[in-house]
Amino acid sequence: MEPLIDSYGRTHSYLRLSVTDRCNLRCVYCMPPEGILRKDREEILSFEEIFRPTGLFADMGIRKVRLTGGEPLLRCGVERLVACIAAVPGIETVGMTTNGVLLKDHLEALQKAGLKLLNISLDTLRPERFGDITLRQNFSQVLEGLEAALKLGFAPVKLNVVVIRGANADELLDFVEFVRDRPVSVRFIEYMPFRANNWRQDRFMPFREMKSVIEEKYPLVPLDNPDDPSRVAREFSIQGFRGSVGFITSISEHFCGNCNRLRLSADGCMQLCLHNPGELNLRHLLRAGCPDEEIARLLRNALAAKPYEHHALESPCGGRDRTMIEIGG
Ligand code: 5AD
Ligand code: SF4
Repeated sequence: MEPLIDSYGRTHSYLRLSVTDRCNLRCVYCMPPEGILRKDREEILSFEEIFRPTGLFADMGIRKVRLTGGEPLLRCGVERLVACIAAVPGIETVGMTTNGVLLKDHLEALQKAGLKLLNISLDTLRPERFGDITLRQNFSQVLEGLEAALKLGFAPVKLNVVVIRGANADELLDFVEFVRDRPVSVRFIEYMPFRANNWRQDRFMPFREMKSVIEEKYPLVPLDNPDDPSRVAREFSIQGFRGSVGFITSISEHFCGNCNRLRLSADGCMQLCLHNPGELNLRHLLRAGCPDEEIARLLRNALAAKPYEHHALESPCGGRDRTMIEIGG
């Protein structure tokens, strides 16, 4: 089948698959404190409803799949899901973004199932702060999960840190120090506005500022390959460090020009741009018995309307009232 190319010539090879809308944390930058209204069980795609389009998308050039959530480890049988996706012809890499709380007990099975890439979200290295950011008390479980992943040879493990002034922005240097002896790529993420996530301009710290704070103590050597079409993080090494440092500059210097990703939410909506409402309800199509060719045609139509870039600051939710957790990270 023809590859998935949009009207700006961007080839789509990466699928982010949200496998649940549930989460066991309440990160203040992601979810309203009362949580979100959970979808009915019947609205969530079954494993079979995930495999079918994954196979179809792989035929159209999707090579990498990342499981997200909510918290993907809350989905029962997620190891089976990883194994089946890893076995889809064409899929080369399966990764997962997790908050790490339940990671330790799942790691071996995930590795056996073929999981290759692991991103762990942890926004503070100070146990007493963890509760302020996540409204839960699971700091040590996350850290144990991370250390266990390193022991099992997941490398590099990516550590996602959403940087918020007044919350954790004073820990930039601590995180850098953390990767001195660990094969961890810490990625400082610019705080993005979504519905009910407390975003304020004065809490936002742009990439340039984070970088200059770090460079006062650690010289950063650029690692990134500007020609890599799927590059989202700006990566740097530090001499003598096992780990590396990256920045996800979604707001200050967005990387829309390289966008190669499709998103499928837990309830089966394809969202082609994080900040744009243009969606395709795959669940309805699958349940109506729509043939593959028709799904492929509708996806191509939707892709043709994918905007060139997002305008996150002017229109945080793309006109649609969705939180980050509803979209899937
Ligand atoms: N800004 C930036 N990143 C966010 N995430 C969630 N909400 C936001 C936000 N407002 C990211 C977290 C986590 C992933 C699930 O989504 O970094 O790693
Ligand atoms: Fe859960 Fe991740 Fe959102 Fe935190 S950022 S509430 S861990 S989905």
